[in-house]
Amino acid sequence: MVEITQAKLSVNVNKIATIRNARGGNNPNVLQVALDCERFGAQGITVHPRPDERHIRYSDVIELAQHVTTEFNIEGYPSEDFLQLIETVKPHQVTLVPDPPDAITSNAGWDTITHQEYLTQIIARIKKTGARVSIFLNPNPELIPSAKATGTDRIELYTEAYATQFHQNPEQALQPYINTAQAAVNMGLGVNAGHDLDLHNLNYMAKNLPGLLEVSIGHALVCDALYLGLQNTIQMYLRALNTQNTP
Ligand code: PXP
Repeated sequence: MVEITQAKLSVNVNKIATIRNARGGNNPNVLQVALDCERFGAQGITVHPRPDERHIRYSDVIELAQHVTTEFNIEGYPSEDFLQLIETVKPHQVTLVPDPPDAITSNAGWDTITHQEYLTQIIARIKKTGARVSIFLNPNPELIPSAKATGTDRIELYTEAYATQFHQNPEQALQPYINTAQAAVNMGLGVNAGHDLDLHNLNYMAKNLPGLLEVSIGHALVCDALYLGLQNTIQMYLRALNTQNTP
């Protein structure tokens, strides 16, 4: 029997913290939502603490790390504070993102050619904690050899351009991602993906992107949960990741 492997769904719970922070109390409870996501089938929880703690706080990260039983993925820019948090928490995966502190959300991947040496040092430090490392990357196969040289285990493809162009022409929208993912797989790197993935564009990507191991999804999933409920929404995302399904 051929084993079908399906990319893992990691739910980014930053948006839950944004709603909580709007009122200053603890409703919704970020930890409870994360544990419920796991109970409903999510295979990972992602957080992206930012220096101003405007959504996920460093204290949330420490609490979540004690209770999350699936894969815990921490994303962020490798500032000294961020690196010390990683050394305290020792998550399963660290995803490095080159976003400036005031960015609303991540808006570019690493230039691994220019920053190869910097990333190599940072990744060596993170790997001492035992974490797997992934680096956020634009879809460009030319970045893969230098990405590999940094010592990273995986890349996370920045999928905003795919999501934007998907409705006009899915095949054309995905092609640069296929080329980059294939180059990564050929060099022994794992492939994650994230940003603006949703119930419309996820299944096509899951079916056609070589070597996809994991997606991290926040904004659209939380928006869908307003209408569909969290449990149902997670089930629908898992169905969309099943390459044998057409949702
Ligand atoms: N991956 C990275 C590196 C991100 O910064 C984000 C947003 O915080 C995501 C994935 C998830 O994107 P979205 O919220 O659009 O699903």
